[in-house]
Amino acid sequence: MNCDSLHSIDSWGQLKPNSEIGIRINPAIGICRTNNEKLQYCGENITKFGVYREQFEQALQIAKKHGLKITRLHFHTGCGYLDAELEQLSNVLKASHWFIEQLPDLEMINIGGGLGVPHTETEKSLDLNKWAATIYKNLGQFDITLAVEPGEYIAKDAGLLLLETTYLEYKKDKLFLGVNAGFNLAPEPAYYDMPFLPVPLNSKGTVQKLSVAGNINEALDVWYENLEFTVSDDMTHIAIINAGAYSSSMSSNHCMRGKFSEYLLF
Ligand SMILES: Cc1ncc(COP(=O)(O)O)c(C=O)c1O
Repeated sequence: MNCDSLHSIDSWGQLKPNSEIGIRINPAIGICRTNNEKLQYCGENITKFGVYREQFEQALQIAKKHGLKITRLHFHTGCGYLDAELEQLSNVLKASHWFIEQLPDLEMINIGGGLGVPHTETEKSLDLNKWAATIYKNLGQFDITLAVEPGEYIAKDAGLLLLETTYLEYKKDKLFLGVNAGFNLAPEPAYYDMPFLPVPLNSKGTVQKLSVAGNINEALDVWYENLEFTVSDDMTHIAIINAGAYSSSMSSNHCMRGKFSEYLLF
C-alpha cells in the first residue's frame, strides 16, 4: 500500500493496523520536459499529489497511531525529462533527503517515472548512464533499494498511430492536411502541448509546409502546425509517432469519433 495523503494513511491504518506502508511525498519541486508546467506534479503550484513537508509530521503521527511501519518512500514529480533536465533531477532527489532522514525503517525509495523520449527531430534520447550517475550521486549514500516506474520511456515509441489522409486543401494561404482521427485518440498533444510528429510513409514527393488537422469539431484539433512535410501523389496514410503510451488509455468518444483498432506486432 502506497499512501499519498493523511486520509489514506488513516484509512489504511484502520483496515490493516501494524502493517507496512509506503508514503508518497511531495518534495515541492518537480521535473518535466522543456519547462512544461502541464507535465509537472510538484512545484510552485500546490498539487494534490503526495504529502508535503508541512504535513509530514502529522503523517508520521497517524502512522504511529495505527502501528504502521513506513518502509517505502515514493515520489513521482513530473514527466518527459531528458538530459537537459538531469540537473533538476538532482534537485528533486536532494529534496527527498529531508523525508528519508526521518524514516528509520526505510527499505526502498521509489523515484517514480518521468523518463522522457525525444518528441522532436532535434531532441536526443535520455542518456541512461548520466541518469544513473545522477541518482547514484544524490541517493548513493543511503543503504536502500531503489525502485523506478517508467511509463513512456518503455511504451511511447513502441507504438504509432496510422491515419488515413482525407484532404489537402488551402484555407486562405494556409495548407491543411486532413486525417481521419483527432486529438481524442491521442490526447497528449492537446492536453499537454506535447508535440507528436506526423511523418510521411513515402519519402518521395515534394516538401510542403502544412498543418495536419484532425476530424474533431474543436479548434484545438490540430496535430501539428506549420510542418515541412513530404507530400507524394499516392499518399493515402501518414503515421503519428510517439503515440505508443497513454494514447488509447486516454482516448474518448468525443464527437462519436472514438473508434480505432489496435494491433500488437511481434
Ligand atoms: C505515480 C506514477 N508513476 C509513474 C508514472 C509513469 O510516468 P511516465 O510515463 O512519465 O514515466 C505515472 C504517470 O502518470 C505516475 O502517475
